[in-house]
Amino acid sequence: MSYLHQTKGALPTYMDKKREYFDSIGDTWDGNVTAEDMERLTHIIDRIDIRPGATVCDLGCGTGVLFDLLRRRVGETGYVVGVDFAPRAAHRAARNFPFDNIAVVEANACRLPFRGGVFDLVISYSAFAHFSGKDEMIRQSHGVLNSGGRLVIIHLMGRTKLAEMHHRAGDAVARDDLPDRRELADMFGRARFSHCEVTDTTNLYLATGIKP
Ligand SMILES: C[S@@+](CC[C@H](N)C(=O)[O-])C[C@H]1O[C@@H](n2cnc3c(N)ncnc32)[C@H](O)[C@@H]1O
Repeated sequence: MSYLHQTKGALPTYMDKKREYFDSIGDTWDGNVTAEDMERLTHIIDRIDIRPGATVCDLGCGTGVLFDLLRRRVGETGYVVGVDFAPRAAHRAARNFPFDNIAVVEANACRLPFRGGVFDLVISYSAFAHFSGKDEMIRQSHGVLNSGGRLVIIHLMGRTKLAEMHHRAGDAVARDDLPDRRELADMFGRARFSHCEVTDTTNLYLATGIKP
C-alpha cells in the first residue's frame, strides 16, 4: 500500500470549507455505512463485472468503504487507487487497507494527477454530489480511462432525497446536489462518453458511461 499527497495544483480556496467539513467527520464516517448499504453496493459492483487484473480508481473514496469489494475483484494482478482531498479520511483509508493492491492519493477528484489511459474503471460512491466541478471530474475520468473503460457514479438515494439530506446537513454541503438525468447525460456527452445510462429513483442514483 502506498500513500501519496498531490503537491502540484493545490486546491482552490473555495474548496477549503468543504474539505474541512469532510475532515471533521472523517473519524466517524464508517459508522454511517449500514449492512444494507454494503449489500446493495455488492449487488451493483457484481453487475459491473470487474475482472481480475483490472485497474480501478475510486474518486472521493473517503475512508475506503468500497476498497474491500474492489480489491477482491481485481485480485493480486490488478490495483485500486483511492482519491480523496480530505487528509484525515484519506489517511484512515490507507491505514484501514494496508494491501499491496491498494494505494491512496490525497488529491482533488476534479484535477487528477494521473497519466491518461491507466484505469479500466473509475467509480465514485456517495461523492459525486460534492464535487464542485462535475463537468471537470467527468472529463478527467474520461482522460484517465483506457478505451473501453467505464465511469460509474453511485448514490444509494435519488437526487431529491439527497438534496434534502444535504440541505439539513449544514452550510458546507447544503448546495451539493446531483444533476438531473438530462443534465448528466449532456455532461457525459460533452466528455465524449458513449452508452450513457442514468437511473434516478427514490433510492438510487446510478450513472454509467463507456469511453469508446
Ligand atoms: C460522503 S463522503 C463519501 C466517502 C466514501 N465514498 C464513502 O461512501 O464512504 C464524500 C467524500 O468525497 C470527498 N470529496 C468531496 N469533494 C472532493 C473533491 N473535489 N476531490 C476529492 N475528494 C472529494 C470528501 O472528502 C469525502 O470523503
